Amino acid sequence: MNHFLDINKTDPADLRHMIDHASTMKAARQGLPKGTPDADQPLAGHMVALIFEKPSTRTRVSFDLGVRQMGGQTMVLSGSEMQLGHGETIADTARVLSRYVDLIMIRTFEEDVLLEMAEHATVPVINGLTNRTHPCQIMADVMTFEEHRGPINGKKVVWCGDGNNVFASFAHAAGQFGFDLTFSGPPTLDPERGFLEEARAKGVTVEIERDPAKAADGADLVVTDTWVSMHDSQTARERRHNQLRPYQVNAELMAHAKPDALFMHCLPAHRNEEATDAVMDGPNSVIFDEAENRLHAQKAILRWCLNA
Ligand code: CP
Repeated sequence: MNHFLDINKTDPADLRHMIDHASTMKAARQGLPKGTPDADQPLAGHMVALIFEKPSTRTRVSFDLGVRQMGGQTMVLSGSEMQLGHGETIADTARVLSRYVDLIMIRTFEEDVLLEMAEHATVPVINGLTNRTHPCQIMADVMTFEEHRGPINGKKVVWCGDGNNVFASFAHAAGQFGFDLTFSGPPTLDPERGFLEEARAKGVTVEIERDPAKAADGADLVVTDTWVSMHDSQTARERRHNQLRPYQVNAELMAHAKPDALFMHCLPAHRNEEATDAVMDGPNSVIFDEAENRLHAQKAILRWCLNA
């Protein structure tokens, strides 16, 4: 039984296998209607619980569809409607769900909830986002980069904006997949130093560059995310906007990157805030490939978790 809790907690060979497996599965489905079952049905007879304590479009739909394509069944659960949201412990919830389902995917606030769920579940647990990390997203992003530009190893990835949970998983991936990473944002929104130090310890270059134009110089990939995340207080909105405005990804900023540099955003976006329409809809944008690849990458993660 394998939990998929974070990219830095997963063996690099397993991560590579999952990315390659996802690409193979994607290729095998080309041209098929979305609801057509895969030729292989490795999740036949399996029941998967998808728990959401925060809103979701991509994670919810892609996990649900992926399980169904592989022959399994899902139950989508809202945290607030479960006893989990009304005093039942996480440990008891994990033990009970383990009697009903074969795998638990959870999107929650505090990382401790995920870790406690994994500690007490007797079935695999997948991290569908916490306030701290978003590993499924970055598996899809690595797959997307490689689909367009070949191996990500040795490439330069530049993150503009908030040092949030999505950035954290990029830092984990930098160490595991071997790419260089530059963070460009205001000092008040720096990522935890530990994420940067851990990647550096694995031999990649990880830098902080306050000038976004300098940061983007020679980039193979430019990435951003919303300026106000789901767990951020809305009262901080105006302050964050003022701090992050210089880090908007626009055509002028992209001109500093390599001419064939890709642009990514995990979505949902606030268009013309963190990135302009011209960039999001431009020729180097792969934002909808990222969204699609959530499906394929997570199918590979599910199979790895279940040894299926
Ligand atoms: N990128 C992402 O996780 O999207 P959702 O919040 O819609 O699941």
